[in-house]
Amino acid sequence: MLLDIQNVEAGYGSAPPVLRGLSLQVEDNRSYCVIGPNGAGKSTLLKTIVGILRPRRGTIRFQGESIEGLRPDEILQKGICFVPQDRSLFPEMTVQENLRMGGFLIRDRRLLRERLDRVYELFPILRDRTNQVAGTLSGGQQQMLALARTLMIEPKLLCVDEPSLGLAPGIVDQVFETLTEFRKQGMTVLLVEQNAVRGLSWADWGFVLDLGALRFEGPADGILENPQIRELYLGRLAARGEE
Ligand SMILES: Nc1ncnc2c1ncn2[C@@H]1O[C@H](COP(=O)(O)OP(=O)(O)O)[C@@H](O)[C@H]1O
Ligand SMILES: [Mg+2]
Repeated sequence: MLLDIQNVEAGYGSAPPVLRGLSLQVEDNRSYCVIGPNGAGKSTLLKTIVGILRPRRGTIRFQGESIEGLRPDEILQKGICFVPQDRSLFPEMTVQENLRMGGFLIRDRRLLRERLDRVYELFPILRDRTNQVAGTLSGGQQQMLALARTLMIEPKLLCVDEPSLGLAPGIVDQVFETLTEFRKQGMTVLLVEQNAVRGLSWADWGFVLDLGALRFEGPADGILENPQIRELYLGRLAARGEE
């Protein structure tokens, strides 16, 4: 098992916890999609895995080792990378500078150069724009840069929060193709996706989160046919006027 989350409680400040006893397991070399209504705790889950939030209770083990309570840079060093919803690029820096920042853990300059070359091989568009300031890239190009940057440290587990948000359909296709390419490179991908149909058609396995806990999991392609899920997930979305 790659990641084992048991009974995790986490949240913000002194407010009641958002994650309320959440447990889930992630196996090596698979693709996962987390779905659930707005406010279910999907982003909070990813922030807790990568150490931005510290769990109040419960355990998180990565490759058998406890990681709850470690700092984000320590968790990154263990091989878990995070692409947040806002992509957190350095908008004033060039494409190449952003990629180099992604490799800040790498001390060996030759290795850094090799990784950079590999990123440019996989993303020729970024090579063409190597000296362009990131903030002036299109939304789709920024998302590609944010994803490509994670390759600088070759993580075992990539956590991605809603990478398709606000992108045109053709660009969304490119984002999913990129995630498939990452899978081929041996990365396990844990994707949070608001577009449940799209995310589940890409993933092997689906998790359904609601009210800060795991409500259901199973092979991704059957999830939206499951009447209980339809009721829970689509019903709740409808109740909140999101569909
Ligand atoms: N920075 C924050 N400070 C306080 N509350 C937050 C913060 N971020 C999210 N929350 C709250 O946590 C709950 C879950 O949010 P989130 O994990 O972002 O849900 P999702 O990603 O599933 O839409 C929501 O009720 C939200 O208001
Ligand atoms: Mg979210």
